[in-house]
Amino acid sequence: MITSYRNVPKVTTHVLQEMKLKGEKIAMLTAYDYSFAKILDGTGIDIILVGDSASNVMAGHTSTLPITLNEMIYHASSVVRAVKRALVIVDMPFGTYQGNSKEALSSSIRIMKESGADAVKLEGGKEVIESVDRILSAGIPVMGHLGLTPQSIHKFGTYVVRATTEAEAAKLIEDAHLLDNAGCFGIVLEKIPAKLAARVSKEVKVPIIGIGAGKEVDGQVLVLHDMLGITLEFSPRFLRRYHNLYEEIRGSVTSYINDVKSLEFPNEREQY
Ligand code: KIV
Repeated sequence: MITSYRNVPKVTTHVLQEMKLKGEKIAMLTAYDYSFAKILDGTGIDIILVGDSASNVMAGHTSTLPITLNEMIYHASSVVRAVKRALVIVDMPFGTYQGNSKEALSSSIRIMKESGADAVKLEGGKEVIESVDRILSAGIPVMGHLGLTPQSIHKFGTYVVRATTEAEAAKLIEDAHLLDNAGCFGIVLEKIPAKLAARVSKEVKVPIIGIGAGKEVDGQVLVLHDMLGITLEFSPRFLRRYHNLYEEIRGSVTSYINDVKSLEFPNEREQY
């Protein structure tokens, strides 16, 4: 395993590009608050994504659509306060960049100014390229997101694997080239056939980060609460659970309740 980039003091978009060229895989996870972001940054994770999945895992909504720009900025600033090394990317929430590139620019400026993050991410290809261009022209690094784009759930009606037909695959390849040529520093590919993701990763210059897109891409991303087993209701095939924190937390809280009720807590040493 190549570990040459593990010691860089700060991950930048240039570091990610070099990692792709050298074949070192990029590890990315989501975080939405100070405490988790601090733990993640201390592990040497390359990218922390303040995903709009906060809408689901933090706020309990059934989609990513309801989360607001103010809420994303709140989560992002909490994360930024904890992070020294990882690149911090913030999702632009639904309704803040589609169809109006001037609004896209002002939304992205608010994210960068008020949170102190390093970059923004937005969903879509050709449909949002004007917004991408305008944000990039302000010197703000942009990551694209293609394949399953959760902000468009009402257009598709389902979270099934995307780009399985020839026409959809061709559009995805075209969109990836558009984002690459526009100057995005990376692209997330979500829930698409592994062969297609591998082809995109070979064809475009910038790093491709997969989620449910197989291993022949330049890095992987998962939602933190899913991989830690805090959220149990979401179980797609691509998700590897590294822990069952839901049960661990339940166990600890149950012990605490029992200790309080039986006067086991606090003991002599835990009082003044
Ligand atoms: O919001 C999010 O967590 C994401 C990842 C799934 C890539 O966009």
